[in-house]
Amino acid sequence: MTNQIKRAEIDAPRLPSKKDHPAGKCLMSRRKMLFSSGLATATVMVSVNAGAAAAKVPAMVTTYPRKKIGSLSALKVDQPLGFKYPDEGAYAQSMLVKLGTEAGGGIGPHRDVVAFNYFCTHQGGDLSGTYKGDTKSLGACPLHLSTYDLTRHGILISGQAYQSLPQVLLELQGDDIYAVGVFGLIFGRYDNLQG
Ligand code: FES
Repeated sequence: MTNQIKRAEIDAPRLPSKKDHPAGKCLMSRRKMLFSSGLATATVMVSVNAGAAAAKVPAMVTTYPRKKIGSLSALKVDQPLGFKYPDEGAYAQSMLVKLGTEAGGGIGPHRDVVAFNYFCTHQGGDLSGTYKGDTKSLGACPLHLSTYDLTRHGILISGQAYQSLPQVLLELQGDDIYAVGVFGLIFGRYDNLQG
């Protein structure tokens, strides 16, 4: 076949500018996080040369599921709730927690409800059961002691890892909490949506 994809006709996502990030503050919205992470998906029309004829055909469309994972009123501060996202496959175990303090990407009236994948980005250590309410952190990882700050998008506090913990993006609808995406690559996957 000599078909050749010439170019994808899709608007490039707007990169965050300084206006999005006033000094010292992280105000990136969940939607901007999705776009800047390259994980937003859309219907993409591509131009294809098929001999003399040129046609536009839809390319692959892949989206994160919208999954209800809890209720705001049922959450208690520092008591994590487990769930799986974005699927039931390997390394999908994640945690939803009300930190009791405002956090990056947090939802709810106090912006203190966040969710993260449970697997260390270094070599996949299982962080289940390592939540610390006094420091709002996950860790230390049982393998090489990495610890992650859940108030700051899962950034590394200490240890061997060099990537932040993947943050599950949340939306609130009434009292229902939905997982709608993942910011960062889940350990053990080359694509978060290929479990
Ligand atoms: S696997 Fe977690 S620090 Fe190495």
